[in-house]
Amino acid sequence: MKKIIVSPSILSADFKHLLDDVKRVERGGAQWLHFDVMDGHFVPNISFGFPVLHSLINEHANYNMVNDVHIMIENPLLWCERFLKAGADYLTFHYEACKKEEIEKIIDIIHSYNKRVGISIKPKTDVKVLLPYLDRIDLVLIMSVEPGFGGQAFMENSLDKIAFLRKYIDEHNLSTLIEVDGGIDDKTGQLCVKCGADVLVAGSYIFNHDNVEERIKILKELK
Ligand code: DX5
Ligand code: ZN
Repeated sequence: MKKIIVSPSILSADFKHLLDDVKRVERGGAQWLHFDVMDGHFVPNISFGFPVLHSLINEHANYNMVNDVHIMIENPLLWCERFLKAGADYLTFHYEACKKEEIEKIIDIIHSYNKRVGISIKPKTDVKVLLPYLDRIDLVLIMSVEPGFGGQAFMENSLDKIAFLRKYIDEHNLSTLIEVDGGIDDKTGQLCVKCGADVLVAGSYIFNHDNVEERIKILKELK
């Protein structure tokens, strides 16, 4: 039976006690840790960059979750190696943030570091734009909110994209993971899993609650 991967977004964590919050979600059973990097250009918000990644992803922090780095930034081709050197295990960039001829180059660079590549699409982007890359990428990140902020309401139109991808990936025997990001809670997470999602990103549902372990367990056990 497929086990849902839970990837808490640190954007909603308590930055006064960031490592404590990271350890809390690890103890709570989260398999991945989601880093929402925002540049104030691609999205109307600025979050954090390399100092936060370097402070968390090194031997001193020593947690063993997968570093799931979501870069909501212009010009990912220019920056991708810096994120790989900073320790991204999955590096997910936005389809809308680069020229089409750059996409293959970014995929090659990420794979040259033996890391995994994800491509993310915003709610208004047609999921079919990703079909030419599906056999080369490790993950698709479906944004179920407009990127830029945590705590927004889930957009139901993302469910059709998940179901379409699930069917296509299974029919073509691909191993590409489907990750969903934005407004995920027990109810919307259940809808996404029913449509075929593999990985759930959650920020406010997990961190804005005192029992982090319980919230992660609920998402992990969705069928
Ligand atoms: C939004 C980010 C999401 C967001 C999730 O741009 O990519 O990861 O932080 O936060 P919630 O789960 O609160 O919607
Ligand atoms: Zn994200």
